[in-house]
Amino acid sequence: MLNIVILAAGKGARMYSDKPKVLHTIAGKTMLKHVIDTAINLNPSKTIIIYGHGGEMVPKSLQQQNATFVLQEPQLGTGHAVQQALPHLDEEGISLVLYGDVPLIQQETLSTLIKDEKGLSLLTQNLDDPKGYGRIIRNEDGKVISIIEEKDATPEQRKVKEINTGILAAPTKLLREWLKNLKNENAQREYYLTDIVAMAVKQGVKINTVQPGHEWEVMGINSKMQQAELERKWQYELANKLLIQGVTLADSARLDIRGNLICERDVEIDVGCIFEGTVHLGAGVKVGAYSIINNSRIASNTRIAPYSHIEGADIGEECQIGPFARIRPGSKLLNEVHIGNFVEIKNSEIANNSKANHLSYIGDATIGSRVNIGAGTITCNYDGANKFRTVIEDDAFIGSDSQLVAPVKIGRGATIGAGSTITKDTPDGELTLSRAKQLTVSGWQRPTKKK
Ligand code: UD1
Ligand code: CA
Repeated sequence: MLNIVILAAGKGARMYSDKPKVLHTIAGKTMLKHVIDTAINLNPSKTIIIYGHGGEMVPKSLQQQNATFVLQEPQLGTGHAVQQALPHLDEEGISLVLYGDVPLIQQETLSTLIKDEKGLSLLTQNLDDPKGYGRIIRNEDGKVISIIEEKDATPEQRKVKEINTGILAAPTKLLREWLKNLKNENAQREYYLTDIVAMAVKQGVKINTVQPGHEWEVMGINSKMQQAELERKWQYELANKLLIQGVTLADSARLDIRGNLICERDVEIDVGCIFEGTVHLGAGVKVGAYSIINNSRIASNTRIAPYSHIEGADIGEECQIGPFARIRPGSKLLNEVHIGNFVEIKNSEIANNSKANHLSYIGDATIGSRVNIGAGTITCNYDGANKFRTVIEDDAFIGSDSQLVAPVKIGRGATIGAGSTITKDTPDGELTLSRAKQLTVSGWQRPTKKK
């Protein structure tokens, strides 16, 4: 059995924020959620989150989570924090201690760390500049004998480059015993979790040390600068994963993935794009520069021209979208649809080969195949209180600058004259228009300025 304890009580004073530190984000997801998502993959029987600063903001941010939240107040050190979890731990098996401000720890590293169910396992790292960290102290045989905090260390001990990342795993029964015996007789008057190491050594418990797969896995966040640095490192990792799969990126340093981006073969992504939520790009999809795509599926060979914003949409094959297109939630485009510049589509279905190429609003509409929507056409879907649907049947042609006042249906093959305001259903195959007849007032004079 595996217990996971996540320490998340710290304030993060150097973030200069009203939000508790662990609620700041990496790749669009709170740091704490990163840790929990990784923890869950290890199938723990219990997940316990120790919170403090920021009050209920921390539990509230994770309402759906199957975890136990325990308030640590006051905060008397990392050992004291883990003590708060003790009443909630399953007795058998081991406990793993993680940190809400060390967001990118990976499952593979943790799987290695929790392998030995009998010993105390420490995640350590060698740093050229170990300043500020607890040092791993070993004897002449190379065996770990204790962890000494920087503030309590002798000048000799401070030379040690192997540091404590803080992450550790221990048999729960032993951990319980050790934590009971913690004292705060140190430079910071804190109950140090790290003091359990010397206790384990005294009892002859085996001490294992494991190193993380990547340096960034154990980077802790204490400031906006560190957050920004880790964000870039993580984005670079995500970009490399795409490159390895064969995705073409114009610049792997100018891409932001805040969720899950799934790409089929031969996808090309230009600079400055942002992907949020789950986005699926089919084979041969090209995404133009500075596009933002959120929770959408885009089928093969569709081309998104620059500066397009697509959210909650399902777009078919061989479509041409943008530049400057906005496609909003509930939109479903079938194949070979063209949506041009300054066209907004919301909660609408558009069937094969239909086009709206310029300056339109299409909301709550059902549009058939081979329909042409002229420039400036607007579906008037909202009367100030309720929304209504516009239906445009196959092969209809809507003249430019028309308003279709919903609920209204444009018949199959119908033509709407430019500049019409259509308030009633229009018949199949006929030309319908609603506008004053053009006239010329001959001899009319422009007004002139009065002296
Ligand atoms: C701790 C380790 C140190 C290690 C370093 C790695 C101890 C005594 N020292 O030092 O060996 O090199 O982490 O970054 O464990 N926290 C609580 N409640 C508390 C105290 C801390 O939840 O009462 C949380 C903090 O929010 C933070 C984490 O525990 O996320 C570490 O606490 P911090 O005080 O920053 O530990 P360090 O002094 O850096
Ligand atoms: Ca401290």
